[in-house]
Amino acid sequence: MILILQNIKELVQVDPKNRLWVAGKSMAEVETIKNAFLIIQDELIKDFGLMENFHQSEYELNDIIMEIDCSGKMVFPSYCDSHTHLVFAATREQEFVDRIKGLTYEEIAANGGGILNSAKRLQKMSEDDLFVQAMERLDEIMWLGTGAVEIKSGYGLTTESELKMLRVIRRMKQNSPLMIKSTFLAHAFPLEYRSKRADYVNFLINETIPIIASEELADYVDVFCDRGFFTVEETDRILMAGMKHGLRGKVHANELANSGGVQVGVKYNAISADHLEYVEDEEIATLMDSETMPTVLPGASFFLNLKLAPVRKMIGAGLPVALASDFNPGSSPSGNMNFIQSLGCLKYGMTPEETIHATTINSAYAMGISESYGSIAKGKVANLFITKQISGYAVIPYLFSSNLIETVILNGEIQ
Ligand code: NIG
Ligand code: FE
Repeated sequence: MILILQNIKELVQVDPKNRLWVAGKSMAEVETIKNAFLIIQDELIKDFGLMENFHQSEYELNDIIMEIDCSGKMVFPSYCDSHTHLVFAATREQEFVDRIKGLTYEEIAANGGGILNSAKRLQKMSEDDLFVQAMERLDEIMWLGTGAVEIKSGYGLTTESELKMLRVIRRMKQNSPLMIKSTFLAHAFPLEYRSKRADYVNFLINETIPIIASEELADYVDVFCDRGFFTVEETDRILMAGMKHGLRGKVHANELANSGGVQVGVKYNAISADHLEYVEDEEIATLMDSETMPTVLPGASFFLNLKLAPVRKMIGAGLPVALASDFNPGSSPSGNMNFIQSLGCLKYGMTPEETIHATTINSAYAMGISESYGSIAKGKVANLFITKQISGYAVIPYLFSSNLIETVILNGEIQ
């Protein structure tokens, strides 16, 4: 099967160099081809270029050819959303109302709300119901342009419920056209372990992680290393256990305080360090000297009114930056990566070009898939979207509540 996109007004995020991430000043430049064609064979990008170099006759011998006229429309690689918690049992709008009335996110968490509230509900819900709900969220983000997504556990808190979440994610991998990576997340201490924290960490290390690894239920292990959650020492032990079982680390770091999470993440060569609101020169220097992708979650800062990660300083220092949605019921109830681009521009002073790299190739790196996803290059998986007729790529972050996506193509198939 050959699918030919013709007369594309602008083909965006073309990368003949096939870079695995884009850092510093280079983030300001996005390569595009105006008046372009793109050819998909089976699930891969076979060729692309200027319309004037497109020769239909070369493809006429093939049996099935489909063509799409993209006049006035633009084509982008699908977003890669490298940080979500989109398997959850229920929304938490009561906490949203409580925050409006003056409680803080940390106060709500300390009183058994927050993650513990989600865990209580998730423990009671059946695997089938969780799966059905999570598939609906996946469908929603697919139509908003996301073609690859990382999904975390962390609302189970008991081994049984963590495994339930990870099995739901495995089933999603088998049933969805999106590329999915799954992560075991050490998210919070259950109430009964608050005064015996070491016992809980031992339990995760000796029971939970070995089962997850032996059943191949996760691609990564993540720890919420922050004030009121896991300490640096506890995070160190969990990341070490993950490494021993072949699970590379990720960290939730420096969201609520300068937690030391970045340093411990980098020590274990975590693939990404996420949140980063409380980042100083020392953390920037540590990240510069690493293979860890700094990942900013604008939805959480926006929704919780948090301090903003110093993105301009990070890019200025030469770092790459990825943006992800953090889709979850407590701190970021949205998986809309178009809006994440808007927040990147409006709140963090990123240019539209920088947000394109941050939501495609850099976020692909942060979930370990940038060799095959995140840019338009020959041989990469054909995960793309075609926009409605638009004037230029900056209208995507500019029209901050519109969905400008008309057609979604995943694995070379029109959805
Ligand atoms: O990434 N920061 C930690 N965990 C999630 C939020 C969890 C929740 O409130 O349910 C986050 O923001
Ligand atoms: Fe998160």
